[in-house]
Amino acid sequence: MLMDDEVSIDPWGSSQSTDYSRIIEKFGLSSMDGVSLNSPSRLHRRGVVFAHRDLDMVLSAKKSGDPFGVLTGLMPSGRMHLGHSMVIDQVNWFQQQGGDVTIAVADLESTATRGISLAEGKKIAAEEYVANYAALGLDPEKTTVYFQSERSVVQKLGFQLGKRTNLSELEAIYGFDGSTNLAHVQAPLVQAGDILHPQLDEYGGLRPIVVPVGIDQDPHLRLTRGLASKTNWFNVSDAKMGLQVGVSIQEDNSLIMGVEPSGRVNKERQKEVFAKIVSVIQGLGYSDIMSNPKHGTVNIPSATSNDKGPIRMALLSLERSMGGMGLLAPSSTYHRFAVGMTGDKMSSSKPKTTLFLSDDIATAEKKIKKSFSGGQATIEEHRRLGGDPDKDVAYQYMMYFFEEDDRFLGEINQDYRAGKILAGEMKQMCIERATDWLSNLAEKRDETAHLVDQFFE
Ligand code: TRP
Repeated sequence: MLMDDEVSIDPWGSSQSTDYSRIIEKFGLSSMDGVSLNSPSRLHRRGVVFAHRDLDMVLSAKKSGDPFGVLTGLMPSGRMHLGHSMVIDQVNWFQQQGGDVTIAVADLESTATRGISLAEGKKIAAEEYVANYAALGLDPEKTTVYFQSERSVVQKLGFQLGKRTNLSELEAIYGFDGSTNLAHVQAPLVQAGDILHPQLDEYGGLRPIVVPVGIDQDPHLRLTRGLASKTNWFNVSDAKMGLQVGVSIQEDNSLIMGVEPSGRVNKERQKEVFAKIVSVIQGLGYSDIMSNPKHGTVNIPSATSNDKGPIRMALLSLERSMGGMGLLAPSSTYHRFAVGMTGDKMSSSKPKTTLFLSDDIATAEKKIKKSFSGGQATIEEHRRLGGDPDKDVAYQYMMYFFEEDDRFLGEINQDYRAGKILAGEMKQMCIERATDWLSNLAEKRDETAHLVDQFFE
């Protein structure tokens, strides 16, 4: 058992804290509870997607008809299983909301952390993952899949961002130490490159990018958001009254900002910069603006927290026009992990803990029959005491994956607790639905096999 203050997240670890409210608190995530979505997906309705960062940036882009993107990644090692399909469910949902989709094949990470060669990674990505993405309904016209090893701009960005962090920070976030392989140290920087590069002009330009992932990936988002913010020339924060823009003087912008190598301030140049900021803010419709070049700030007393998004976006555009990178910190959503079928963690290296998307029906049936049950030891006891759907793998898998109908699910949940449904009956229901789901997917895989190449173009 982890102690209270030991809630930790290791993206490469073999265990995962499941105290989700503590995770939200410790890492400063926002709960999905307060977020109202127009057409929530199954995973939203059931609280499987439980937390986010800055999702409002994406939702308001959608609302005002502005573009937004979705980026996620896959580690090409082993076979694609049900757990992996949760990210694709979310990507699908964002795609339906109008987002353009980019998917990174983390072949460099896979080499660094799993010992998979680049050639193997390539093969696994296409045959195991993208074949299933097509079958799960991703639209090849609106989805691009690329390899980390082949997109030099991703690596370049990772390298540039490396200047904004150091070993101590990586130690603190990932628990690295002196013996950590350097390829392993590079992997998160490449992932930061993955996450931020869709904003570059040649990949669609400045727009909010949402990264749907399992909660194990949040350390990468913390790192990436920090790196992006450190590059920003203008920071928007809450002030006593309204919002405040702070100018950040950095090595690569000081001349532009009017600070000469001697440290002398070029007042004319500084004035021009502040005039630009004021004009951008006026352009958004604010008239009461207090510019204070001496303090490096511009105040907008009438702006509220809700106005932060548009102001940030406008200032990032300004930064770009002045020669900066203008990177917006990514948004993200997080899903919980479904329990492994044996009751342990789901893992590709332990076939009994999960269903692979290419499992045949007989294999699936066997695994479900043997799965961890929330029932009582005897039928008599089960009728008397009832079962626990929260622990019952068969029920959980219907909830996470196989059953769309919320009402039906509510009913079997109640009936299980009341002892009306037996554990074997629950498993049987799950087997029926898993059978449909898997055979439907296999059929779709055949139908969409010819589309796989299009995802890589
Ligand atoms: N690290 C991810 C994994 O282990 C894969 C990945 C690479 C990724 N780049 C990404 C995920 C960018 C999200 C966003 O599965």
